[in-house]
Amino acid sequence: MSAANPSISLESASYQIIDGIAVTAINNPPINAISAAVRRSLLAALKKAEEDGASLLMIYCEGNTYIAGADISEFGKPQDFPQLPDVVAAIENATIPVMVAMHGNALGGGLEIAMAGHYRSALSGTKLGLPEVKLGILPGSGGTQRLPRLVGAEKALAMILEGKSISGEEALQAGLIDRTLDGDLRESALSYARELVQANASTRRTGQLSVENPAPELFAAARAKQEKSRSQLLAPNYIIDLIEAATCSSIELGQKLERERFVECRASSGSQSLRHLFFAERTAAKPKGIGNDIPPRSIDRVAVIGAGTMGGGIAMCFATAGYAVTLVELSSDNLQRGLGVIQGNYQKAVDRGITQKTIAEEAFRRITGTTDIGNISDADLVVEATFESMDVKSDVFAKLDAICKPGAILATNTSYLDINEIASMTSRPQDVVGAHFFSPAHIMKLLEVVRSDKTAPDVIKTLMQVAKRIGKIPVTVGVCYGFVGNRMLQKYARQAQLLLIEGATPAQVDNAIKSWGMAMGPLSVADLAGLDIGYFSRRNQGIEVGSQPECSVPDELVDEKRLGRKTLAGFYGYDAVSGTQFEDDYVVEKIKSHSNRWGITRRAISDEEIVDRLILALVIEGIKILEEGVADRSSDIDVVYVNGYGFPRWRGGPMFYAETIGLETALQRIRQFQQQTLDDFWEPPTLLIKAAEQGSATLAIR
Ligand code: 3HC
Repeated sequence: MSAANPSISLESASYQIIDGIAVTAINNPPINAISAAVRRSLLAALKKAEEDGASLLMIYCEGNTYIAGADISEFGKPQDFPQLPDVVAAIENATIPVMVAMHGNALGGGLEIAMAGHYRSALSGTKLGLPEVKLGILPGSGGTQRLPRLVGAEKALAMILEGKSISGEEALQAGLIDRTLDGDLRESALSYARELVQANASTRRTGQLSVENPAPELFAAARAKQEKSRSQLLAPNYIIDLIEAATCSSIELGQKLERERFVECRASSGSQSLRHLFFAERTAAKPKGIGNDIPPRSIDRVAVIGAGTMGGGIAMCFATAGYAVTLVELSSDNLQRGLGVIQGNYQKAVDRGITQKTIAEEAFRRITGTTDIGNISDADLVVEATFESMDVKSDVFAKLDAICKPGAILATNTSYLDINEIASMTSRPQDVVGAHFFSPAHIMKLLEVVRSDKTAPDVIKTLMQVAKRIGKIPVTVGVCYGFVGNRMLQKYARQAQLLLIEGATPAQVDNAIKSWGMAMGPLSVADLAGLDIGYFSRRNQGIEVGSQPECSVPDELVDEKRLGRKTLAGFYGYDAVSGTQFEDDYVVEKIKSHSNRWGITRRAISDEEIVDRLILALVIEGIKILEEGVADRSSDIDVVYVNGYGFPRWRGGPMFYAETIGLETALQRIRQFQQQTLDDFWEPPTLLIKAAEQGSATLAIR
């Protein structure tokens, strides 16, 4: 029989004495983030437990998870007291033992609280970690000082620099927790607390532990790796410094330095960008007009039409996530080739240690190949990934309409074609939607969910949920040529071509934008994708070969069979043995001759102009997309660009970047380019003019 006092309510927690043990349960849904109210509640619980003469304070959380971190929506606002380091210090210095019981996600400031506690336990399956680096910050409440004291410098460095979580079982082995719990969290934690009290467990202060001497090269190696990564964020190098400091300084000194660095990182533009994306990605998952009241359709069986590169990658996404997949191809040869590529991709993931062999084998077994499209009549979701031609897709959708069961979702992976037209091939346009995956589809995170004029809301809702289950970051967009991402890319690529004709070389353009932070330059991207792709797309749009300054060079390269990397020649040359890319004088001379042909006097172009022309081209097109309602919000466009096009996360996306430099500044620069080039493209969009006139810091204006 246990003696329990009535539970009393603190601001964001409850407090109760059970058998002399003070039990406090934090309650701040959805993730028990450490708001100011939670901080106050923790201090109040601690004070009360000490005043009540409790034998131990047990802290746990209500809901799906233990504390998953500080409330990052509070960052950048005036700080409310008490601050987290004060709460953490009070817990560590408590006069009675403090035991923390974790479940779900024990992250960031949540784990820092636990590490300041004297005893730590976690339900099996709990994920524990310090992911702050993913937000451009570092643990700011003793994490960099206490984690190495508990698990050693090497493990702490790996965990904090990568921001990856470890399991409860691994945490037990590493010495981060003392006990794994099973069954009911509260009951299991209480029985551990009683055990501690019976054993007269005393306060144990993590800060008083010392860190075992790490291998001498540990920190130098970490710094060298960091240097190579070309990260522009402050946090990674500071994390290395701070963990090194933990090996030789007192906890007080280490924490003081940590706090200073934390505050500096929190104010940095890199962290602001990453925090913007954190919320942008979650907001993008909630398309406008699709409320919580709309029930999704149930999806168990998936069919993919086309076993080429895209179709195969898409089939892998679903199979890996546990869906039964039927893969349809026209000929048995193509089907076998496609299945072979899929198996090879799974094998590569196993060889690289990304997936376990049994998991990869199970996933591959979920894919059944067929050459008979009639076999997919029971599919709940069909994703068509055939050749990019309206004739081919119209034919496929007419067949799907005849075969598929009522209510099945019919998705097309088209990159450019009009989904309204594709939907009109069926008697059920409300079930037709775009599912634009990015290559390689089993790796790239972005999914553009394209809503046609008639797509039903529950179809969008279902696809957004399925996307999350298969590990994608979905963004809902409207129908237009190239949707959001490729439409903007075209304007960016066009500027790259114009810069060549005006005086730059491929390497100059690529190096300038890479130094700015893009993963690859536009001309290297064009070579990698194959110059023939753009060539055929221009012909499909009725643009004559070589008829415009922005396409005359690539058209001629294709006519000369210089198709890019695959032919070891494109905008660059490539070494036949090593594949190494080099600037090719032949191409540079060709570009010069095209400048002549268009009557353009070549000039020296600065790296600054290259970057501004390329990025502001994205911004202009992004704003037009917003004006037309093709994207719901400017942050959705950022999510598309960082997850699908190698835009640096630490710059937050093109729209956020424009807001960062100031919309007035962006507008002025656009007007300069308008005067300089006399190109209509640089006509400033109305929304930008209006936002700048209003002195708005964001593009989200009425
Ligand atoms: N602060 C404020 N809001 C947060 C938050 C946080 N740290 N973490 C999540 N949320 C919000 C989300 O925005 C979302 O809100 P919404 O429903 O209004 O869109 C809601 O909580 C649920 O989040 P998810 O959709 O991400 O839910 P999941 O179940 O998919 O994932 C999670 C849960 C794994 C906890 C994930 O949200 C996550 O990784 N959160 C961030 C964890 C983190 O970075 N912690 C460190 C914070 S910094 C810190 O602690 C500093 C300290 O060192 C001083």
